[in-house]
Amino acid sequence: MPRLEWNDSLSIGIYRVDSQHMRLIEVANDFLRTAGEGRDGEAIQTTLTRLREYTVNHFRDEEAYMREIHYPRLARHQEEHRNLVQRVKQFQRDLYEQRDITVEVMRDFLREWLVGHIINSDLKIAEWLRAEEESRARQEQETKSGGAE
Ligand SMILES: [Fe+2]
Repeated sequence: MPRLEWNDSLSIGIYRVDSQHMRLIEVANDFLRTAGEGRDGEAIQTTLTRLREYTVNHFRDEEAYMREIHYPRLARHQEEHRNLVQRVKQFQRDLYEQRDITVEVMRDFLREWLVGHIINSDLKIAEWLRAEEESRARQEQETKSGGAE
């Protein structure tokens, strides 16, 4: 059965975000399982709606987190989230209109849509945090050695 896999390279190292990403992958897999079992259109739409709703809540929380840490690329990231929501809405419409989309095509869409975003954008949050911590540690070190003179 085509599915998405979680692996450690997707971890951004922040439990709050990582645990939601893992859950998102699970919800995406529930949807793929339902579609793969050849369930009726309604069941497929219901699981996809759940994925969409969970995604919207997750984006909201991730944006709140970025605001808390004063992430400088928040606006751009928010814009990406908006685009992702539009794309999954379009995907849902396509699925409604063309019943012959294969589960592999659905999986590939979700992989690019979800895993692609984690790798290309969410991991940047972790990179930025690490750089911030390093520069803070360096500053502290400089203050200390400056004070000793
Ligand atoms: Fe994100």
